[in-house]
Amino acid sequence: MIDLHGLTPFASGGNRHCYIHPEDAGKCVKVARQEVIDKRFKGSSWIKRQQGRDRLDDNLQELKGYRQLRKVAASPQLYDHIPQLWGRELTSEGMANVSELITTATGEVAPNLSQWLVQQGMDEATTVAIREFQSWLRAHQVLTRNLLPHNLAVKSGPQGIRLYIIDGLGAPDFLALLYPLRSWRQQYIERKIRNMNLRIQWELDGRPGQWRTAQKAIIARSKHSK
Ligand SMILES: Nc1ncnc2c1ncn2[C@@H]1O[C@H](COP(=O)(O)OP(=O)(O)O)[C@@H](O)[C@H]1O
Ligand SMILES: [Mg+2]
Repeated sequence: MIDLHGLTPFASGGNRHCYIHPEDAGKCVKVARQEVIDKRFKGSSWIKRQQGRDRLDDNLQELKGYRQLRKVAASPQLYDHIPQLWGRELTSEGMANVSELITTATGEVAPNLSQWLVQQGMDEATTVAIREFQSWLRAHQVLTRNLLPHNLAVKSGPQGIRLYIIDGLGAPDFLALLYPLRSWRQQYIERKIRNMNLRIQWELDGRPGQWRTAQKAIIARSKHSK
């Protein structure tokens, strides 16, 4: 069991607390926030509740996302933008996923892309890293949830910077079933890339208004101008 007593998470998202592994500083320990799962479960419709709580546990969904990767033809580059995952382990705070901690050149925890854009803005290196990440998604046909900048970590090293998906790998079960359909898969990935770009622009613009409203307005404008 991993003992997390007295340790403070280095970051917390809406669903999980992230700790540095107490015995291995290269690993990240993500504990699902049980109170969030309970709240989401209570707020679900009767039908959704019949599917159980596992559906609401981001750690279990993440494991599924990694399993879906096996459907992708293996190539050494497949893992270029995905942290290594060691699996599920019990901790003093509950069940956790143990994965690779993404770091900076000096060994600090890497910023996520939202934090990076606030610090750096959109410079040449960032543009290249985003383009390279999106080319990789297309080349390997990797399915993801919405590609939100705070779910991408910016790893920096002597070779420059590289984006890693630290949250949101894989698609929901019913969509993943369509994976064998090539044109569906390509459209799905293109939609995720387009949304990622819109979201980055919205964050660079200083997050005006609500994201959902802004997203709809941008899409409507681009359809109008076609
Ligand atoms: N493997 C990792 N390496 C570096 N930072 C990470 C890693 N995983 C998560 N983080 C940081 O922790 C934050 C929350 O993690 P995340 O997995 O997105 O939690 P949640 O599932 O609650 O959204 C991320 O936005 C990121 O800044
Ligand atoms: Mg997240």
